[in-house]
Amino acid sequence: MNKLMVAGGRPLKGTVTISGAKNSALALIPAAILAESKVILDNLPELSDVEIYTELLTELGATVERNGDQMIISPEGLRSVPLPNGNVKKLRASYYLMGALLGKFGEAVVGLPGGCNFEPRPIDQHIKGFEALGAQIVNEGGAIHIRAKRLIGARIYLDVVSVGATINIMLAAALAKGITTIENAAKEPEIIDVATLLNSMGARVKGVGTETIRIEGVESLNGCRHSIIPDRIQAATYMIAAAATRGDVIVDNVIPKHLEAVSAKLTEMGVDVMEMDEAVRVIGKPEYQAVDVKALIYPGFATDIQSPMASLLTQAKGTSILTDYVYSSRFKYIPELSRMGASIKLEGRSAVIEGGHPLTAAKVTATDLRAGAALVVAGLTVTTGEITEVDGLEFIDRGYDRLVENLSLLGAEVWRKE
Ligand code: UD1
Repeated sequence: MNKLMVAGGRPLKGTVTISGAKNSALALIPAAILAESKVILDNLPELSDVEIYTELLTELGATVERNGDQMIISPEGLRSVPLPNGNVKKLRASYYLMGALLGKFGEAVVGLPGGCNFEPRPIDQHIKGFEALGAQIVNEGGAIHIRAKRLIGARIYLDVVSVGATINIMLAAALAKGITTIENAAKEPEIIDVATLLNSMGARVKGVGTETIRIEGVESLNGCRHSIIPDRIQAATYMIAAAATRGDVIVDNVIPKHLEAVSAKLTEMGVDVMEMDEAVRVIGKPEYQAVDVKALIYPGFATDIQSPMASLLTQAKGTSILTDYVYSSRFKYIPELSRMGASIKLEGRSAVIEGGHPLTAAKVTATDLRAGAALVVAGLTVTTGEITEVDGLEFIDRGYDRLVENLSLLGAEVWRKE
């Protein structure tokens, strides 16, 4: 595995420009295959997960061109090729091929998704949605076989608010006959981004950003050009890293509204956060107060940012309680932070953090993408002059565009080691 070496103790200073959102890109790329002609995606992040998705589209017969941060997807040669194994198992968002291929061709064979397996992540709500639209589904040898003669719009109530299920049902329903309503839908900005692309392609999706999404099926979808929204999780990670190192950073090319939950928590701790039109400035302080954090569905504090936040909370005086209401056991990073001297206890779905003690360097391992981000933030706070070795850089590369370059520009001393 590759390692990220972090010589901490330097306050981050300067401006970091945030790339397009991973979780949008990984839904927009499969959404594009619903079109009959070329789709151009701008502001594409440079991530290993995006590379894998590019390979998946090529396996399906699409032509994909890359030009800097632009991706051009020509879906004319695309077929519903079975994808039981291989690349689909390397990332979670491969499940969007189920909805997209089902919507376009009436059939899909897609292996159960991989990605960050910090706990079991079922896809029963995706399946429930496809079945409601009239699809027949069999799980054979670890791959989901989905078939429908004609998808017919339906009313679908999600038992749990799920980003993936909401988007997947939107993809399947865009070309279905009649009207589909998704009740108890997720409201994340990435869902709005997907609906914006679909509507630019000629779909009729309304109500995104609310609990009820209405999709009126259309006969066909055309190509278009779309710019991906900024990555709020990467942005929040830099905000947290700026606070943790007592730095002064402008996080640029963001939608400050998407960062409100994080900005509010940082402010509550005593960090200075200033919102601008398309940027936020974060100025760290010598001392922070402990706060309680609840990771929730949007617009709450994102579960994807709770692990880096835990690293920051080790720097706050007093006891902070961080509870994840989306994933009950997304805490594999705790033993690693403990190696660095953090005092954290796990109680049910909460991490109880006794803060205020400086962290020390250690050899630690990233067990998943966001756990990796937590360890990098922790390493940046170490002032003893020793080097923190974060193993499992592959996980971090899945979700952080040009991490080493960005941190270096902000004055951090970080480098890759094979
Ligand atoms: C997406 C994000 C991930 C983020 C998560 C929550 C992508 C590629 N990934 O994951 O970064 O952490 O949203 O914001 O966009 N659930 C079920 N049954 C289902 C689906 C979900 O029980 O069929 C549960 C999950 O176990 C979890 C909760 O619902 O407890 C939310 O999961 P969901 O929003 O679906 O997460 P993902 O879409 O997989």
